[in-house]
Amino acid sequence: MSQAPARESGPPSPSAPAAPWNPSIVVFACNWCSYAGADTAGVSRIQHQPHFRMIRVMCSGRVHPGFVLRAFEKGADGVLVSGCHFGDCHYVSGNERAVEQFKKTMGLVKLLGLEEGRLRLEWISAAEGVRFAAVMNEFTEQVRSLGPSPFAAERRVA
Ligand code: FES
Repeated sequence: MSQAPARESGPPSPSAPAAPWNPSIVVFACNWCSYAGADTAGVSRIQHQPHFRMIRVMCSGRVHPGFVLRAFEKGADGVLVSGCHFGDCHYVSGNERAVEQFKKTMGLVKLLGLEEGRLRLEWISAAEGVRFAAVMNEFTEQVRSLGPSPFAAERRVA
């Protein structure tokens, strides 16, 4: 007489480790460098964290503080603004403007009580697929360590 096979599926036991929480990250990437850098990572099949939505803008200088605050309001746990390295901006000084905008944005983010680590500015060129992947991995872990944004939690409850 044969025995029934052991049951392999079913509810997790109370002692089973919980699955890691995955943050929601919004990436504003300039069309000419950072978005292309993400594309380079993709076509090169470089593995990286996938927990982000990318919004393509023509230049990092286009990222008004309101864009970032809106992303947090809509439930983002972290926001990355990314553009061309200095000297490479296709609009000459757009990334210098991005730095000014970023400083204002960071001030507002802190005023709202969010941690500085939820917002980051990075320069990534079209050829830097490896760098794009590294930034996404590192930023995802940083936001994960901070936990869910309080605004996102409010949104999830509502
Ligand atoms: S075009 Fe990339 S930062 Fe301006």
